[in-house]
Amino acid sequence: MDQATKLRELAGTLLCEERRARTSVQVIAVTSGKGGVGKTNVVANLALALAHTGKRVMVLDADLGLANLDVLLGLVPGATLEHVLAGEKHLDEIVLTGPGGVQILPASSGIQDLTALTPDQQQLLRDEFDRLAQDVDVLLIDTGAGISSNVLFFAVAAQEIMVVASPEPTSITDAYALMKVLSNRFSEKRFRLLVNMVRRRDEGPEVYRKIGLVADRFLNISIDYVGAIPDDDYVPMAVRQQRAVLDAFPQAPASREFQRLAHQVAQWRVPESPKGSVQFFLQSLIAQG
Ligand SMILES: Nc1ncnc2c1ncn2[C@@H]1O[C@H](COP(=O)(O)OP(=O)(O)OP(=O)(O)O)[C@@H](O)[C@H]1O
Ligand SMILES: [Mg+2]
Repeated sequence: MDQATKLRELAGTLLCEERRARTSVQVIAVTSGKGGVGKTNVVANLALALAHTGKRVMVLDADLGLANLDVLLGLVPGATLEHVLAGEKHLDEIVLTGPGGVQILPASSGIQDLTALTPDQQQLLRDEFDRLAQDVDVLLIDTGAGISSNVLFFAVAAQEIMVVASPEPTSITDAYALMKVLSNRFSEKRFRLLVNMVRRRDEGPEVYRKIGLVADRFLNISIDYVGAIPDDDYVPMAVRQQRAVLDAFPQAPASREFQRLAHQVAQWRVPESPKGSVQFFLQSLIAQG
């Protein structure tokens, strides 16, 4: 083999390594036991705030409920994942671009069938994600609420599970129930807790203490408290305008907390490959089917 060929081969290998390194991505599932506690708003605002810190953010809307992320951000989805699986479109063609350049994979994308794909479709999707992941630092997933298999699939496949709870007693017990299922059935042992819609400064730590007390007694898990977002009238005002509160009212109390949260999340350690790759995430997702 001549020198030039060797160099070309080496360059090819290095480029491939570099490409692999760049696919390192932080996958965070935002989930909750009870519905309506603010997951979709958390995802939209955290995504935007992370984008402001310079991160390249993608959001996967895996919530099959009604109040979807695209609606919240005033976006109109076009093609769906079905078109991708049929080989008619590439994944980057169905991705919507939201405020701050945040990329959004819309809910109507048939993601519910992800575990029932043929091996060819799985490979196609992996390749498509691989292409897309080159430009992503953080992948946020709005999982929807509860302990249905869809919600659990996405939570288990992600590296970080951020459970959102409000100070309401039912939300607290449902958050605990969700962590219990994820721990007992899927051996998930580490959770992040975000308390939304707090009316007093000490309400967030109070919710954390309540869940922590029971979890310490009955479950072998660790819960990291990541903070609280205030109950803020600017949030529903922004929702009515189909905008994220951070976008519409950057100075609102909730917006400031979302910014603080984003700076914290940006510090979280991203696992080394292969755990820190979109392919791994997708692989775990499919493997559960
Ligand atoms: N910090 C907040 N302050 C005031 N209102 C809020 C706050 N966060 C969310 N809300 C309001 O709560 C409602 C539910 O929010 P959101 O749709 O984000 O919840 P969700 O958990 O995604 O719901 P679902 O489980 O149905 O998907 C919205 O109308 C929103 O305006
Ligand atoms: Mg929602």
